[in-house]
Amino acid sequence: MTNVLVAFATKGGITQAIAERLGARLLDAGHAVTVVSVQDDPDPTAYDAVVVGSGIVAGSVYPAAGQWLTAHARGLVDRPVGVFAVHLSATREPAGLEAAVGCPDQLASTLPQPPVATTLFTGSSDPAGRHWWERVAARLARAPRGDFQDWAAVDAWGGELAERL
Ligand SMILES: Cc1cc2nc3c(=O)[nH]c(=O)nc-3n(C[C@H](O)[C@H](O)[C@H](O)COP(=O)(O)O)c2cc1C
Repeated sequence: MTNVLVAFATKGGITQAIAERLGARLLDAGHAVTVVSVQDDPDPTAYDAVVVGSGIVAGSVYPAAGQWLTAHARGLVDRPVGVFAVHLSATREPAGLEAAVGCPDQLASTLPQPPVATTLFTGSSDPAGRHWWERVAARLARAPRGDFQDWAAVDAWGGELAERL
């Protein structure tokens, strides 16, 4: 059994929902799991392995995710880390999708060693729950509206992670 921290950075709650789902798959596989926001500054040295995920804004992961990884770089040495990002470029905007595809690597580049797994999930938009300026920015980023979450993809990656952590 591995003691796994699943840390997430979210603004709209989608990355948290995905983190919780991954946590459930890791639990199913017999690991001990703690799912917590990077805002709560969890200490990775209290765990055997770490999974970190972030939503994307304007082509980049949320600063809070990178900041947490940077702050804990020493504590992540020799710990297996899985990385995911959640985007909504879907098929609308090739440039946006290209930027989103690079986001897991953006997170991975702050790690002291390469991650054991990286992936990009499609998310969901909830413009009603956002600030007006976030709705404008989402429109400018051509983020489509709707629910594009692919729980089968999340479950499959959770199963892969369970083997690698
Ligand atoms: C202000 C804003 C900007 C966004 N910019 C991008 C973007 O550049 N690329 C992208 O793929 N998705 C973008 N999105 C979509 C989010 O990444 C997506 O909704 C994701 O599910 C959000 O995760 P969260 O709910 O955990 O914050 C944007 C969403 C908002 C609200």
